Amino acid sequence: MKVAVACDHGGFALKRVVNDTLEALGAELTDLGTDSTSSVDYPDYAHKAVNMLLTGACDRIVLICGTGIGMSIHANRCRGVRAALCHDSYTARMSRLHNDANCLILGGRVTGPGIASDIVEVWMKTPFEAGRHAARLSRMEELTGKINE
Ligand code: RB5
Repeated sequence: MKVAVACDHGGFALKRVVNDTLEALGAELTDLGTDSTSSVDYPDYAHKAVNMLLTGACDRIVLICGTGIGMSIHANRCRGVRAALCHDSYTARMSRLHNDANCLILGGRVTGPGIASDIVEVWMKTPFEAGRHAARLSRMEELTGKINE
């Protein structure tokens, strides 16, 4: 699976753990930066990854900022992105089973390395359940599409 990862300075430290976990799982990884703890603007990095996802250049994306909140707001404003800010493996599993999340968000100042690695592993391995959940996602597209008209 092709996975692109992007972070801001608040997510930089956790990105190494995320990348190591993804590579251990056999993912084809693209690291879009940032590459240091120097201050950057998270929308710029979120958008690099979102562009890759929405153009089909990758299958899924992982975004990391300090809390995960800014990255979540940005990603979920982009139609076609289903971003899940996860703090534990239960929400990571459910984000795949019920929401078909194609974007995982982590808070680099919130979630420790061991839990983050578990979250990434569960999120990568869990399939979408489809069925009634697919119908709900279609309904979501229908309703939000009207707002965006
Ligand atoms: C950067 O200081 C911080 O605001 C950012 O990483 C993120 O937490 C925003 O939501």
